[in-house]
Amino acid sequence: MAVAGRWGTEMTHQFDAVVVGAGGAGLWAALELSGTANTAVLSKLYPTRSHTGAAQGGIGAALGNMEEDHWEWHAFDTVKGGDYLCDQDAVEVMCREAIDTVYELEHRGLPFSRTEDGRIAQRPFGGHSREFGKGPVRRSCYAADRTGHMILQTLYQQCIKNQVRFFDEFHVVDLLIEENVCRGVIAYCLADGTLHTFRAKAVILATGGCGRMFRITSNAYALTGDGMALAYRRGVPLEDMEFFQFHPTGIYKMGILITEGARGEGGVLRNARGERFMERYAPTMKDLAPRDMISRFIYREIREGRGIDGQDYVHLDLTHLPAETIETRLPDITDFVRTYLGVDPVWQPIPVQPTAHYVMGGIPTDLDARVVIDEKNTPLPGLYAAGECACVSVHGANRLGTNSLVDILVFGRRAGKHAASYVREVELPPLPRDPQARARAEIERLLANTGDERPIAIRDELRRVMMEDAGVVRTGESLQRVIEKLGELKERYARVGVRDQSKQFNTALLETVELGYLLELAEVLAKSAFAREESRGAHYREDFPNRNDTEWLRHTLAYRTEKGIELRYKPVTVTTFPPQERKY
Ligand code: FUM
Repeated sequence: MAVAGRWGTEMTHQFDAVVVGAGGAGLWAALELSGTANTAVLSKLYPTRSHTGAAQGGIGAALGNMEEDHWEWHAFDTVKGGDYLCDQDAVEVMCREAIDTVYELEHRGLPFSRTEDGRIAQRPFGGHSREFGKGPVRRSCYAADRTGHMILQTLYQQCIKNQVRFFDEFHVVDLLIEENVCRGVIAYCLADGTLHTFRAKAVILATGGCGRMFRITSNAYALTGDGMALAYRRGVPLEDMEFFQFHPTGIYKMGILITEGARGEGGVLRNARGERFMERYAPTMKDLAPRDMISRFIYREIREGRGIDGQDYVHLDLTHLPAETIETRLPDITDFVRTYLGVDPVWQPIPVQPTAHYVMGGIPTDLDARVVIDEKNTPLPGLYAAGECACVSVHGANRLGTNSLVDILVFGRRAGKHAASYVREVELPPLPRDPQARARAEIERLLANTGDERPIAIRDELRRVMMEDAGVVRTGESLQRVIEKLGELKERYARVGVRDQSKQFNTALLETVELGYLLELAEVLAKSAFAREESRGAHYREDFPNRNDTEWLRHTLAYRTEKGIELRYKPVTVTTFPPQERKY
């Protein structure tokens, strides 16, 4: 249906299901739906440019191709790595289904690296162990250091084969929820500046993370937390947003990821004295301890004056590895380092520093990826979330490397399966009156503002304060500074103006919209972190350096209210592994 209006032709589309985001979670959800439901995928990019493509080192699954392994060991490592904040029922589902998911991917065409006898090759990754913590195990299934890229190609081809409809460069700017039922989304078409209404029985959010709120990040420009912010603005709480992972090895000053697979292949971290410092901090797992710990210890080495040349970085040393291992198992990162740093990792160590990588929190969901809205896990009919934007709480306070790919695949698939049966049972819900009103008003406001506030200045200040005061190490004081700064930045954002008034490819407008999302999510992160007076996983408070299970073994739920953010809490599901002190 087409309706003429001020915005040109306002299109309304009808689908059984609309998937927002075309990374691994979105594509697999779409694939599951495609057999029986009329399905559209909306992406603000081209699907094969989604951030899943940046996942390098592999997918964790206890195939046991290299030595004995069991999904129960994988589950234990995940729970321990997550500092016991994971919901263990969800972890069990993830680790059990990881195995079958990897084989299904293989059968759908993913070109995994192979062992000599033709099985899927596996390598060690941080925090993955054998026999409940007795030392590293090879569990990561990989395609050189291009695993995410291969997943995207494989799933995208399958979606095309299965007639999934793609709307590329359609930027979703509002979620239609009325009377507690999700009814579709509003999207802005980048090519011509028109707004489109997508009416649907089910909406699956798979929009990825929000790492662009930090100055040094491995995240692509697109990772601005769109799905999380849109759901939050429509009354859905955000869970555990205070837990943000810093990957230990980002290229110095640039943040570009150097896969943990490099340490899985034998690489080690060294300080200015050439010491392999992780031996001191984690005698069993050493350079393959979990990320929260390694990032914190890099920070400590730097603070105690052992950064290289007194600067804020350390070295990742691969020079003792055979050149062939580096070139064939780590080809992409080898290229990155040669291109961006002029360093040859075969002969020279790589300058690295922790880089903002992954948000453990997000939109709360149940085991079928249905969005839930309260402490009792009440689902919001018609709305699903999967992948980094969601929090089914398989990562707890700190995600293990390789578990993001497992999460997107297992819960993307589950979202698609559940939504496929849901859309068979329900009628297409009616649209709210003037469904585009809210999105239109916000865009018109941004285009009409003529003040001097420029989005770039606000964005740079946001990223600086988040990096300095809400990063690897925090205190109540530093978080208070963040909260105050965000108050000021939000006021300035209300006056922000977009100079580019064009309809075609107005990326300045959309970047300003995205900045609004980041400001809001940063505030949720900072307030949730300020309230949590303990240290757990990636949330390290120097003023509360210990974990406190008595008071804080619980999930945060942050709600947007008229009076500001309201924090509530819900219990953690513990089934098999009682909380213990983490030792590596
Ligand atoms: O280090 C890496 O290859 C990243 C993997 C992940 O974040 O799971």
